[in-house]
Amino acid sequence: MAKLIGCIGTSHIPAIGGAIHKGLQQNPYWKPFFDGFPPIRAWLGKVKPDVVVIFYNDHGLNFFLDKMPTFAVGAAPQYNTADEGWGIPVLPPFKGELDLSWQIINTLVEKEFDIVTCQEMLVDHACTLPLKLFWPEGECPVTVVPICINTVQFPLPKASRVYAMGKAVGEAIAAWDSDKTVAVIGSGGLSHQLDGERAGHINKVFDLQFMESLLTNPEWATQFSIHELVEKTGTQGVELLMWLAMRAALTPGQGAGVRKVHSNYHIPISNTATGLLALEKVD
Ligand code: DHB
Ligand code: FE
Repeated sequence: MAKLIGCIGTSHIPAIGGAIHKGLQQNPYWKPFFDGFPPIRAWLGKVKPDVVVIFYNDHGLNFFLDKMPTFAVGAAPQYNTADEGWGIPVLPPFKGELDLSWQIINTLVEKEFDIVTCQEMLVDHACTLPLKLFWPEGECPVTVVPICINTVQFPLPKASRVYAMGKAVGEAIAAWDSDKTVAVIGSGGLSHQLDGERAGHINKVFDLQFMESLLTNPEWATQFSIHELVEKTGTQGVELLMWLAMRAALTPGQGAGVRKVHSNYHIPISNTATGLLALEKVD
């Protein structure tokens, strides 16, 4: 059976792509953000996942407001990126892991999640940036299964529903008949609001409590309604749902212990409080 080794949550912001492209990692503005990554790359170099399942939210590249799935699972042989402007230039396509895509899709439908299956799917900065931050050199060495969660257009799925979906994905990975190792990524957040009267809203106390909860009490955030999460973290801060799905994927069956590999938190990059957290699964 496949081996699920751990998870990594990270913020995504298009400007990070521009900074990578321009080589600004040591610039005083960017350094506190980029300095979070070497320990995680060292861990990835040791555990060497073959495949990553990445929970992310599309921002209007593949799904626009006219057609907005709550949960969409990629089942494509490759995922093309596209130019979003002010970010990272277009990257080569990422290779899909078709067999795991269908394993996840079949499991989710069996468990009564009404998902959308995407045999073609463009991926935006929420997918490209984590992969580039974790594997900066050359071609991306892992295959991917992208799972998109709507945080763009209301109504959004409840935190408890997202947790349940993430848990089912973890069960699908654990039951995958493969000798490959799998890591799970959550891409989004943490607190930020890009528009409206509260533009620039950041909530450090909540962010740090949320990150801590993923280590000690992973269901903690499911107590909050979507409106409460927006109130606390901002209209785009709800992207933290990706981290919740990611963490839930590590608790199939009776639940599993986790060990913190590394974390980082820095305010701000652009309008966002950036978080980074890697957890290793310990049986
Ligand atoms: C920013 C943050 C995001 O999550 C995003 O998708 C786009 C922009 C920002 O802070 O600039
Ligand atoms: Fe975003």
